[in-house]
This record gives sequence, C-alpha cells and structure tokens, in this order.
Amino acid sequence: MKAIVWSKILSVGFEEIDEDHRKLVGIFNELNHAVTAGDAADYLAATLEELINCTVWHFSHEERLMLKYRYDGLEEHKAEHRELIQSARELQQQLLQAGQGVAEEQIAFLERWLTGHILTTDQRLGAFLTQRS
Ligand SMILES: [Fe+2]
Repeated sequence: MKAIVWSKILSVGFEEIDEDHRKLVGIFNELNHAVTAGDAADYLAATLEELINCTVWHFSHEERLMLKYRYDGLEEHKAEHRELIQSARELQQQLLQAGQGVAEEQIAFLERWLTGHILTTDQRLGAFLTQRS
C-alpha cells in the first residue's frame, strides 16, 4: 500500500489537531513501510502499539478541546473514539495470537480506520473549533 500523503484534504483546519493527525499518519506510514519491507513481527507489533497509544492520547486531547469549547457533538464523537480504539485493539489481539506479521488487508483496514474518522467526524469538529476559538 502507498504511504498516506498529508494534504489539505486531511486538514481539519485547526492546527492543534492537524499536528496530532500528522504524527499519527507518520506512525501509520512507518508501519506500512515495515510491512512492505518484511520487518520482524516484534517490530510490527511495537509500531502498532505506538500507533494505538498515540491515538488514545490524541483522542483525550480532542475530548478536552470539545469540553473546553462546549462542543455539542461531544458524546457522539467520544463514542466513535471508543469504537475505533476497540477495533484497533481487536486487530492487535488477532496479530498477537497469530504470531505473524501484518497482512496487506489489515494495513488497508488501518488506513480506513485512520483517514475515515479524520475525513468525517473530525472535519465537523475542526470547523466548529475554528469558529469558536
Ligand atoms: Fe476525533
């Protein structure tokens, strides 16, 4: 799979969030690159762990901003965050159990997992924050 290239399309228009998203995209690209290069399973597992941990941290950052600026869609957005973490943990569990590398289709899943939320739910939040802050 090709690396995710950061562009205006992914920007939510709010620098504090874009900065986090760029970091997440960077870790995803590292994982994608490692899969293509055939890196060891423990390296792939460590990179996925970093991606998930960084995402957990980033979600709490967004949730704090939603509280700070009294965002209406807070509960809905938080619920989506919970589901995203859950699905990433399930994928991680599968990988650990299988004891093998990350398959192409799992990388494709993670790509949709990452960009899907940024392109929809986070765009709404970004537009709101830009107006309010
Ligand atoms: Fe979000």
